[in-house]
Amino acid sequence: MDDAPIGIFDSGFGGLSILRALVDLVPGEDLVYLGDTGRYPYGPRPLEEVRGFALEIADYLIERFSVKMIVVACNTASAAALELLENSIPVPVIGVIDAGVRAMLQVTRSGRVGVIGTVGTVSSGAYQRQVLKAQNDLGTEVSLTCCACPGFVEFVERGELHSEQVHILAERLLKPVIENRVDTLLLGCTHYPFLARTLQDVIGSGVVLVSSAEESAFEIRDLLLDKTIHSHKTEALFSLESKSLSTRPDPNLVGTQTYLSSGNTVKFKNLGSQLLGLEIESVLQVSWDL
Ligand code: DGL
Repeated sequence: MDDAPIGIFDSGFGGLSILRALVDLVPGEDLVYLGDTGRYPYGPRPLEEVRGFALEIADYLIERFSVKMIVVACNTASAAALELLENSIPVPVIGVIDAGVRAMLQVTRSGRVGVIGTVGTVSSGAYQRQVLKAQNDLGTEVSLTCCACPGFVEFVERGELHSEQVHILAERLLKPVIENRVDTLLLGCTHYPFLARTLQDVIGSGVVLVSSAEESAFEIRDLLLDKTIHSHKTEALFSLESKSLSTRPDPNLVGTQTYLSSGNTVKFKNLGSQLLGLEIESVLQVSWDL
């Protein structure tokens, strides 16, 4: 089980922001990444439909690759399906919402914080609930502004990260968080770290951007090392031994990355390499019709 790969999935390219961080943080681990580009975007879809996709992908990664852990590298899918996955699959499941919220509350000085995400994520109320819960746990109080940002994901999926158009869209969509004078902005969509330069330009250098993707990667590293996991459902710490999770024992091992796409594999290879800053050598085709 130590040598089994970690399964990671997103609707498209966004989860590569987590994969990139994991390559640095746990270089010995084999990673299998599935971008569901044939069914992207998830953001505007009903949560029930996203739930079905998430379960199908998790089952696929477990059956085909015997993964030891599933990383739901998508906020929309985490908001829709984390609890369902935790209850129905035999390996540990990590979402991207909790770690980002914890970091945001640690970083803020003024207590005025913002979260941006897809329409599905923001309207699910998952961040609003998690912030309330974290506030109670930490005994702090914050003023939260949540903002859906339709359109950002499409720019990333086109590889358009710094254009004038994306800048103009950011100026319009970030207005509520700017007006509410947040000092910390959580990027509650794994696609958004690829737009960080544009977002920082628009919101100003005084606002700290927190990435749900990067914070989750740190959490996964700690889980692999500590063998403990924060259970979303029971809110208790339990040992991963019961689900047989551990890191590869030999620190000199260099892990591999395997990429799968349910859409255009050539586009995945080219844009994925550009976004990752690492050469993707090949992409396997996934077909949900089989
Ligand atoms: N990367 C996904 C997320 O974190 C969203 C992309 C989509 O709308 O498909 O929410």
